[in-house]
Amino acid sequence: MLDQLETLREEALAALQMISDSASLQAWEGQYIGRKGALTQLLRGMGGLSPEERPIFGKTANEVKQILTAAHDERQQLIQDRELAQDLEQGEIDITLPGRTAQIGGLHPSTQVLRRFYQIWGDMGFQVYRTRDVETDDMNFTMLNFPPHHPARDMQDTFYTTQPDVILRTHTSAGQIRAMWEYGDHGTKPIRVVLPGMCYRFEQITARSEVQFHQIEGIAIGKNIRMTDLKGTITEFAKRMFHPKAGVRFRASYFPFTEPSMEVDVECCVCGGKGCNLCKYSGWLEIAGCGMIHPVVLQNGGYDPAEWSGFAFGMGPERTAMLKHRITDIRYFWANDQRFLGQF
Ligand code: PHE
Repeated sequence: MLDQLETLREEALAALQMISDSASLQAWEGQYIGRKGALTQLLRGMGGLSPEERPIFGKTANEVKQILTAAHDERQQLIQDRELAQDLEQGEIDITLPGRTAQIGGLHPSTQVLRRFYQIWGDMGFQVYRTRDVETDDMNFTMLNFPPHHPARDMQDTFYTTQPDVILRTHTSAGQIRAMWEYGDHGTKPIRVVLPGMCYRFEQITARSEVQFHQIEGIAIGKNIRMTDLKGTITEFAKRMFHPKAGVRFRASYFPFTEPSMEVDVECCVCGGKGCNLCKYSGWLEIAGCGMIHPVVLQNGGYDPAEWSGFAFGMGPERTAMLKHRITDIRYFWANDQRFLGQF
């Protein structure tokens, strides 16, 4: 019977050499090493052997099986490689077909407007300074001349944290003092910076107000900086941002950290001032709050208000984007709707 094993081995290996396709390989496997194959048949006859012969036969049969299995696997790999090469050569896979293009993302409309702001303010000599979203009550209010319990705090509904005195900034003005400390060198150097960032207010979400939105703050401090500098700077900005001939007007307003304070309107970009839906038939759109930095704030930032003066302004990129693109609902900005975002 050991001879039979040897014959089987030789015969099977010889047959394997002739095989060159997957189907025949499968047939070969069935014929020799499969569950109903020749090797299994031989093992079935083991019962007729003497107890001494049996283990020798069993061991040899196992070895034959291992040899044949290894030879089979090797052949299989060879055939698969060859078949793949053949397929490629015959062009069954057309590698010249154009692929499916992946959708390319774009910049969020807020990011686009912010970058336009940086560009314009950069051209006008302002550097960009990033301050923190999580602020102290001190920086957001007290140092800006809103003492505790000052009624002006009600203008901005605040998100408080579980830490006493730690809040989410309600406006980028919260970075004013930090910028003065960082660049003013104890009130000895002039500064011109813009502070962009997300602000948070505990407000009812509507088409016109969100609980989070960007602002971009600007401050300029120097000697002999006057209200006319502020008006000229803002007017120049509006022309660059909206329209070279855009009219601008200033209305008296109130902020605790500026004196005098103003709000800035630009001529409606849709109707050109004649009156339409967007400007609610006034011909004007509000774009900023601004004013001359209050002496108390200058002092808190390290400057001597007898010697130094400056102006500050705050603008909303989402509002600006809404005006420029006639977006009617601010909630679109954070809704992550591709149909909206894909338009920019
Ligand atoms: N921080 C003010 C607001 O959020 C805007 C502002 C900034 C006004 C700077 C004056 C000067 O409404």
